[in-house]
Amino acid sequence: MSLVVLPGDGIGPEVMRQALRALAKVGPDLELEEHAFGAQAIRDTGDSLPEETLDACKASEAVLKGPIGDPEFDAAEVRPEQGMLRLRAELDVYANLRPSEQGEVDILIVRELVGGLYFGERGVREDGTVFDTMEYHPREVERIARRAFELARDRRKRVVSVDKANVLETSRMWRRVVNEVAADYEDVALEHMLVDNAAMQLVLATDQLDVIVTENMFGDILSDLAASLTGGIGLAPSASLSDTGPGLFEPVHGSAPDIAGKGIANPMAMMLSAALMLEHGLGRADEAERLRAAVWTTYEAGGELRTGEFGDAVLRELS
Ligand code: NAD
Ligand code: IPM
Ligand code: MN
Repeated sequence: MSLVVLPGDGIGPEVMRQALRALAKVGPDLELEEHAFGAQAIRDTGDSLPEETLDACKASEAVLKGPIGDPEFDAAEVRPEQGMLRLRAELDVYANLRPSEQGEVDILIVRELVGGLYFGERGVREDGTVFDTMEYHPREVERIARRAFELARDRRKRVVSVDKANVLETSRMWRRVVNEVAADYEDVALEHMLVDNAAMQLVLATDQLDVIVTENMFGDILSDLAASLTGGIGLAPSASLSDTGPGLFEPVHGSAPDIAGKGIANPMAMMLSAALMLEHGLGRADEAERLRAAVWTTYEAGGELRTGEFGDAVLRELS
């Protein structure tokens, strides 16, 4: 079995290149194979997630993915983002771990990734009304809640469940199910918080927050905010896990078309995603720690490093 690499669009290939250099150093035995995905795959095959790529991902041990997305397709019928949602759903990587760790900040957002507003019924009614719907089955809430409580046990034993229970039916069910799951984790403190307040508390009471568990779209928005509490989105990695199959490891940020091709993208989030892959995807925690340490040492040394220079410095740390 090998690892599938999806370099992606925009700054994707630039940051992936640095992650692969570092991986070759910490895990020279790793077998990696690249596959087409995203905007480039649409140009080449008409599909952002070609059959061949999906099959390879399903058969892999883990998937390392760069960001995708291209303004060229923003208004198109077939868009890179659709393939990305399909990949997440096909791999059933429902548990998206988005850590924000730097200095005083130590937050883990556990974002539900394969349900909710992103995957509910959508369409256009006869009168022209357009709709997206937020849908959850209680068992989808139960499994993500369980993940959050398990993760909290290895941390500060505090879970904040974020919803919009003052408005949404899905949120009221979410709250009920999370409470039920909490009964199995009496050593973990649970608090419920409305999503608007959660955005504010992230900024004003960062140190009060530890594990946050939330719906797909709330998690999308809050994780960019959480990233901004550290050195920014260029630092934020993520791990998306299923119960049995391969995990998907990717930065929180996008393809950054505004800086693509300039050689100035920060490769940290991509490299830290590779570290999460070593740890959660391959059970190689020591190598993950080596890579993480090299990345942070490079970051803390400071200086305005270009993408390749950052990669060079990490390699030096690893030697
Ligand atoms: P973005 O994250 O690409 O960029 C937001 C801002 O952050 C930009 O100013 C960008 O230059 C900066 N930035 C992002 N990553 C950086 C890095 N590594 N180093 C330095 N600066 C960085 O978000 P966006 O502009 O809203 O979206 C652009 C495209 O990316 C869209 O097509 C979107 O759908 C896609 N997207 C993909 C993913 C993914 O594949 N996981 C995630 C988010 C957005
Ligand atoms: C992310 C991205 C994606 C999401 C987009 C590109 C579909 O913003 O991974 O955070 O919303 O999940
Ligand atoms: Mn996002």
